Amino acid sequence: MAPVDWEDAWKKRVTPWDEGQSPPALQRLLAEGRVPSGRIFVPGCGAGYDLATLADSDREVIGLDVSSEARATFAESYKDLPGRVTYEVGDFFEYHPTHPFDFVWDYTFFCALDPGEREVWARIMSRLVKPNGLLATLLFPYVDPIPADASGPPWPVNTDLVRGLIADGFELLEVTEAEQTHPGREGKERLALWRRKGRD
Ligand SMILES: C[S@@+](CC[C@H](N)C(=O)[O-])C[C@H]1O[C@@H](n2cnc3c(N)ncnc32)[C@H](O)[C@@H]1O
Repeated sequence: MAPVDWEDAWKKRVTPWDEGQSPPALQRLLAEGRVPSGRIFVPGCGAGYDLATLADSDREVIGLDVSSEARATFAESYKDLPGRVTYEVGDFFEYHPTHPFDFVWDYTFFCALDPGEREVWARIMSRLVKPNGLLATLLFPYVDPIPADASGPPWPVNTDLVRGLIADGFELLEVTEAEQTHPGREGKERLALWRRKGRD
């Protein structure tokens, strides 16, 4: 299967994943006070709804997307967000921030990657999240078991798949089915919270 040309998809506005707002599961995590302050990272942030949702005076929020068109969409929508919010254009697989993060939010990024890229995704996540920091994966589309002939993107995902990739570096804290989702994603989202092993 040919790799996705993300910039082209954004230019042509062929963005079927884009729901126009953050998922309810992120809103809920915030309302429950479970997103830490400090440095926050959102890979594959698209139009940047989650950057705006996470923006707060005690957070530095950094989004990354390979598409400059996606960043332009973000810039048109959000002019004045609280705290420090930066949208960087670049490739996750080449990303080397100055410091690791307290909280990383992955929604519809992992499932967009070619399966052959997942092990590298896992290695990079171990580098990006601080010891004791949190990796939150809102797993969509959640399928268990994953059929042998699965196709994507979005590639079907589940907890065991991610656990198998990151178990060395992360402890699974909990997995919950999202009570509320974007329309059409009901029953297909699980929020898995992982704590980075090791000492600060
Ligand atoms: C399925 S979209 C999800 C966007 C956003 N998370 C959302 O839920 O609306 C995947 C996003 O990842 C970006 N992307 C794909 N591969 C990337 C890479 N290697 N590095 C950074 N961004 C990437 C794409 O441009 C796209 O915006």
